[in-house]
Amino acid sequence: MPLLRLQPTDRRLRDTLGQVRRDLRMVVDGFRGRRPSPVLDRRPRGEAYESTPAEGVEPALRVGLGGRQVVVAERIQETADAVTLLLRDPTGASFDFAPGAFFTVVLSLEDGEGGVEEVRRAYSASSSALEPDRLALTCKRVEGGRASTYLSQSAAVGDSLRILGPAGAFTLAPQPEATRRLVLVGGGSGITPLMSMIRTLLVAEPGSELALIYGNRAPESIIFRDGLTALAKAHPGRLHLRHVVESAEPGWGGGVGRLDRQGLAPEIAALPWPHDEVDGWYVCGPEPMLAAARELLVELGVGPERLHEERFSAPQRRAATPTRGEVAAPVTIRRRDRPDAPSAVVIVQAGATLLEAATAAGQELPFSCAVGGCGACRVRVLEGEVVMDEPNCLTAEERAQGFALTCCGAPLGPCSIEVG
Ligand SMILES: Cc1cc2nc3c(=O)[nH]c(=O)nc-3n(C[C@H](O)[C@H](O)[C@H](O)COP(=O)(O)OP(=O)(O)OC[C@H]3O[C@@H](n4cnc5c(N)ncnc54)[C@H](O)[C@@H]3O)c2cc1C
Ligand code: FES
Repeated sequence: MPLLRLQPTDRRLRDTLGQVRRDLRMVVDGFRGRRPSPVLDRRPRGEAYESTPAEGVEPALRVGLGGRQVVVAERIQETADAVTLLLRDPTGASFDFAPGAFFTVVLSLEDGEGGVEEVRRAYSASSSALEPDRLALTCKRVEGGRASTYLSQSAAVGDSLRILGPAGAFTLAPQPEATRRLVLVGGGSGITPLMSMIRTLLVAEPGSELALIYGNRAPESIIFRDGLTALAKAHPGRLHLRHVVESAEPGWGGGVGRLDRQGLAPEIAALPWPHDEVDGWYVCGPEPMLAAARELLVELGVGPERLHEERFSAPQRRAATPTRGEVAAPVTIRRRDRPDAPSAVVIVQAGATLLEAATAAGQELPFSCAVGGCGACRVRVLEGEVVMDEPNCLTAEERAQGFALTCCGAPLGPCSIEVG
């Protein structure tokens, strides 16, 4: 009987054979130059997390941060390609989050090859943190995107979704007594965490003022356009709105152009306050806009304590740089969360991340955003060296203590890491 068809009844033997089979597949895939997607966990149809819990491990731990089932209570078409899903927890539990935080949606989608892919994507809360009985996630469809196409086109009222979180460091804690001046700069779907900040702070910080510079392709692609106008009217003098679009019909009242360095500089100069009187800058949008804003603000003397950024797409891979392993490296995974579990060794192929390699080898590691933004995949490096895509959310202190992120980290040679 061929090895791959064995159906051993002993759980340990079955797990070992499964591991050998996955290792072989990984090595063969490595030779063929294939590697898994960073946020997909491929498993045969019908083999869901809940039905195959590892011995002694709660399903919640196996999906990383724990999770909850929520129900789509309402669906709001914001623009032609952006939809807000209003979620409620059927148990009545609240969604406690700080404005700016994101949740990870875990979807099981057909993979087109007869199996099911688990797809995890981060979506920032767009609702007010002061209304914790509901959570609004606003998703803009990305051309060819797996999760955004599903959420914006197929998710319907009554559907159940699995979410993890909240997570993230791009948050703004309301200070009821504060009299702050905050500038929010957004592009496209990057408005979502900023909208949560606006909705929350206009109510929770009556002495503070906000200015939003929001870039889009065209007036009709502005998410929350009417809602923003209504909020500005309801809070006179406290929300300064400036829309900038790439193209518009004559009569358009906002700016025209891109929020790149050239387009952003005059917008900053035209703010209602001088830049040195701004207490905080919150920037969220496409990478070129983030880079332009960072460059300009640093030139204006804005330090990291006042500049806060959130990126929505994965950092560009530093392909073929000497820091990413050029040959496969073995990584030993020790489990502090499962002291009885034996160590496992996975081979990380050149160019792959630790998380990709571990997932392909059937090792359940915690993760959430998969782009270095939330810290859920933090592990301690016991031996060897791990390099990471930058920027990521690890603090200088965590780095000094030897922590690394598996979702954007790769070994430079043989390594040993500790999970949990
Ligand atoms: C912390 C965080 C918060 C986020 N919050 C939101 C939110 O509130 N609303 C929202 O709509 N999205 C948000 N995103 C982006 C979201 O997580 C997904 O990346 C996005 O929906 C695309 O996923 P997908 O599965 O449809 O595309 P994929 O199947 O992953 O990618 C398909 C193609 O689109 C490209 N692509 C992926 N993401 C983007 C992007 N953001 N912009 C342009 N091209 C892209 C890929 O490179 C690929 O070529 C957030 C991301 C992060 C990290
Ligand atoms: S999973 Fe979020 S930082 Fe790695």
